[in-house]
Amino acid sequence: MPGIEISGAKTNNSSLRSWINTVAELTKPERVYICDGSQEEYNRLCELMVEGGTFIRLNPEKRPNSFLARSDPRDVARMESRTFICSLDKSDAGPTNNWVHPAEMKEKLMRLFDGCMRGRTMYVIPFSMGPLGSPIAHIGVEISDSPYVAVNMRIMTRMGQAVLEVLGDEGHFVRCLHSVGAPLAPGQKDAPWPCDPENTYITHFPEERAIYSFGSGYGGNALLSKKCFALRIASVMAQDEGWLAEHMLILGVENPEGERTYVAGAFPSACGKTNFAMLVPPKGFEGWRVFTVGDDIAWIKPDKDGTLRAINPEAGFFGVAPGTSMHSNPNAMLTLTKNCIFTNVALTDDGDVWWEGMTDEPPAHLIDWKGQDWTPGCGRFAAHPNARFTAPIQQCPTFDPEWDNPVGVPIKAFIFGGRMSKDVPLVFQAFDWSHGVYLAATMASEATAAAEEGLTMRRDPMAMLPFCGYNMADYWTHWLNVGRLLANPPRIFRVNWFRRDERGHFMWPGFGENMRVLKWIFDRVRGQGYGVESPLGYMPRHQDLNWEGLEFDPEKFYEIMSVDREAAVKDARSHEELFDKFFDRLPKEFIYLRELFKSRVWRSPQMWELARAIF
Ligand code: OXD
Ligand code: MN
Repeated sequence: MPGIEISGAKTNNSSLRSWINTVAELTKPERVYICDGSQEEYNRLCELMVEGGTFIRLNPEKRPNSFLARSDPRDVARMESRTFICSLDKSDAGPTNNWVHPAEMKEKLMRLFDGCMRGRTMYVIPFSMGPLGSPIAHIGVEISDSPYVAVNMRIMTRMGQAVLEVLGDEGHFVRCLHSVGAPLAPGQKDAPWPCDPENTYITHFPEERAIYSFGSGYGGNALLSKKCFALRIASVMAQDEGWLAEHMLILGVENPEGERTYVAGAFPSACGKTNFAMLVPPKGFEGWRVFTVGDDIAWIKPDKDGTLRAINPEAGFFGVAPGTSMHSNPNAMLTLTKNCIFTNVALTDDGDVWWEGMTDEPPAHLIDWKGQDWTPGCGRFAAHPNARFTAPIQQCPTFDPEWDNPVGVPIKAFIFGGRMSKDVPLVFQAFDWSHGVYLAATMASEATAAAEEGLTMRRDPMAMLPFCGYNMADYWTHWLNVGRLLANPPRIFRVNWFRRDERGHFMWPGFGENMRVLKWIFDRVRGQGYGVESPLGYMPRHQDLNWEGLEFDPEKFYEIMSVDREAAVKDARSHEELFDKFFDRLPKEFIYLRELFKSRVWRSPQMWELARAIF
């Protein structure tokens, strides 16, 4: 573009250069800067944000090289109602996504983006999802007018000059365009957190493999590598190309003999994925280790031998801070000691951070996430419930160097778990791949707050409800098909850490104790653990889990393994309601799988007394 200054990293990629020019012409920034990903650049941008009031530098003695950002209180979370899949055909987005025709959405977006970066720097952020040059990885470029996005992207992805080199002159990249939607008039003072909540749109164009996001600077709305690219757009790419882009953690579990098995786990948002990915084995598991490859997203591809191999496309954690403590997740706490960005947490008087659940006793005084004085008992949250930390994965004590292995890690099991207060056992194993896909597709989860009041349960197939970029029924068919290509498909498990008793108390201790379940899974995939055949799938007996170090008698165990028969029948019927939404796109196999499930439930009355009856 004539007259516009472009500084920073260099690229000869002709489509990138012309896209930069096109976007600059449309958005009319003051200057264009191509990020090189260096530490020097990161420091400079952070300093710029300290000067502008977006960042507060935390006490370097307590949290070296770490910052606190406070968002606009209207811009605090992913906005599903403002998220759109703009496929050419509405039925390709399916009934679970918001849809607007791409031409109509583009027209709206062009109006919003016209001149939206006035007075700002346009950052060009090249990033690789996955190890540079890995056959499973892909490159994206985010153009954003937010320096907050640029520095977060440096933690969350492999970002900068090295990516441009892999991209080369001809390489392909996914286009991710973002603006906070707050142009500055000459001389106008900037807000610490510019945004445009009235005009927020997070839009995806699957056929073009492009993302346009306007109006929000927060998390998944703005860090377009994460949910927008690595899940919504990548799920479409994966369907076309025969792989899987999933909302899954990846962990390795190793026994005292040094044998390691990798599993991937899908849990709806706020079901403890980060905790599980960094699990600390409890008493009774001396010599066992858990290795973290990823806590949120997995890209999984069959290799030439028919093994599924997974990479974590990300390079950092963007985790929910409240509830994270040395008790719930010591490895996360140790990850957060330096080089982190905190958003919407509270500030302590000595320049450190605090959030609900971090310590039993709150500090006597804080500045809350809105910048106001806070004292215990004042009736307000000190940190926003969706306050976040952005932290480099390599700082995690359980970090697995296999994270950077371009061929990925071999996945032996998939674990699916929602938050259900009753009628879903602690753990069971699917009979086979297609039964497992069915269990995952019909997975449900209760909203956290509502669990106390009564249930608002939503079906969250594969924990992908807000993240599947195409028709969910086609996604199920894709899963069924992928299994058919595999030499030895991973075993599929359902888990539920969230059973409650009549008084509403959790019955399972969770956290590190989940290792007891993980070990059974480890044994099963190695053909060692015992599983009783039940109408739901294979189940462990009390004696099949290691209880050393935990008092958990058989009575209690069978209680969290049991399912009410009537409830199971009702559940099977409600699968029909879910399936009806998809009409003829529903995989036919699911109809038979549901019938099989219903017959098993009817014909096995003894199961429903308590798992005890058959154990
Ligand atoms: C997340 C989510 O932020 O799933 O990871 O919502
Ligand atoms: Mn997530």
